[in-house]
Amino acid sequence: MKKFYIETFGCQMNAHDSEKVIGTLLSNGYEQVETPEAADLVFYNTCSIRDKAEQKVFSRLQEFKRRNKGKTFAVLGCVAQQEGERIFEKAPHVSMVCGSASYNRLAEMLVQVEAGNKRVTGLSLDTEDTFETPLTRRDNPHRAYITIIEGCDKSCAYCVVPFTRGPERSRASDNVLREARELAEMGYTEIQLLGQNVNSYLDPSPAGLTFAQLLSRVAEVPGLRRVRFTTSHPRDFGKDIVDAIDGNPVLCNFVHLPVQSGSSRVLRAMQRLYTRDEYMRRIEWLKSSPRGIALSTDIIVGFPGETEEDFEETLGLLDEVEYDSIFSFKYSPRPNTPALRLTDQVPDEEKGRRLTILQEKQRGIQLRRNAEYIGRVEEVMVEGFQKSTGQWIGRTSQNKTLNFTTPAPASDTLIGGYLPVRVLRAGANSLVGESLN
Ligand code: 5AD
Ligand code: SF4
Repeated sequence: MKKFYIETFGCQMNAHDSEKVIGTLLSNGYEQVETPEAADLVFYNTCSIRDKAEQKVFSRLQEFKRRNKGKTFAVLGCVAQQEGERIFEKAPHVSMVCGSASYNRLAEMLVQVEAGNKRVTGLSLDTEDTFETPLTRRDNPHRAYITIIEGCDKSCAYCVVPFTRGPERSRASDNVLREARELAEMGYTEIQLLGQNVNSYLDPSPAGLTFAQLLSRVAEVPGLRRVRFTTSHPRDFGKDIVDAIDGNPVLCNFVHLPVQSGSSRVLRAMQRLYTRDEYMRRIEWLKSSPRGIALSTDIIVGFPGETEEDFEETLGLLDEVEYDSIFSFKYSPRPNTPALRLTDQVPDEEKGRRLTILQEKQRGIQLRRNAEYIGRVEEVMVEGFQKSTGQWIGRTSQNKTLNFTTPAPASDTLIGGYLPVRVLRAGANSLVGESLN
């Protein structure tokens, strides 16, 4: 039997694509192994969101340039789509290059690879299909991803995704709901709905559900205890989503709403299609929810033309919103993107300085916010056990890590279960507590 190894870089969409790719390989008679050394076929599912992410796959391929011993290498995902056949020139031991919009041809491409074809490609973005697989091998037995929309129709000036994942394609709501019911019957209690831009969801089936309606319907599936979704684009984020969260406690009280910058001038240059005020209106809806919705965001510092003043507006936004967590990045110029043509680049050193200031500020905000949880009882889903600290690892509906000890001796039957935990201490990135039973 042919053995394969797969390593995945990048976002949750990529992680879930890999689960579907693994399912496809298994149902085609391949066996998964834990190391590239033990494999006949080595897959890298790649990310090209920033230059650093892109370089990872090339350094992996470099490791095997001289000692590939008859192995076949395949590059999947965003770098595959972006670099296409150039990958064969850079790394001649690669035989297959396939972007995510072509995964529904994967089985057919594997046949070509098996037949000894040294340059098999799947690079067309011209698809109306989503990647549906008869078998998906999920990594986690309690929490599962479901894709609801693939691709992206926005054109943020810094972003490669519209080039690497193609145009938006929504999945029919009946397929999404069927998958949710099947997962619940298999024992999954948490579901995360995925898409580059879930708010653009446009149901192609006669039911014609909006994203908020789909959310509510998934949350009604018997057996599910938590439903999350990512990623939202502020432009398409409607008040109906907040109403849906208010209406059903299964919908987690956590929303990731990437802002990118606190300066309307920079937002315009980024082609984000909203102003700071419009973004803040959405934050007000979220903050006025009785559910106590936790908020996170993405921020880019050093976009071309970002002045000290613009940057200070971003710092001011952090104070105003008080996010529960942020992901922050130095702007990285990407191939094909409109921002490449902008002349006023910010020096790398200055980007680094801004990033440090931003992260320091946010650390203080998180310390303060998390301290407010001390004394409260929160329900966690138990994700694991950390031997070194003797603590269980839990996650709250608000997506906070809450590590805890139990009065009774530990047993691994806790994993996947839900428990009330009293918060005793708080750090910037996690809470510590003790379970009540
Ligand atoms: N440079 C830096 N960060 C980027 N992101 C997307 N493109 C770039 C880029 N060229 C960030 C955005 C996005 C997150 C997934 O990655 O903040 O929301
Ligand atoms: Fe990386 Fe974006 Fe591709 Fe996800 S969609 S793998 S973040 S480039």
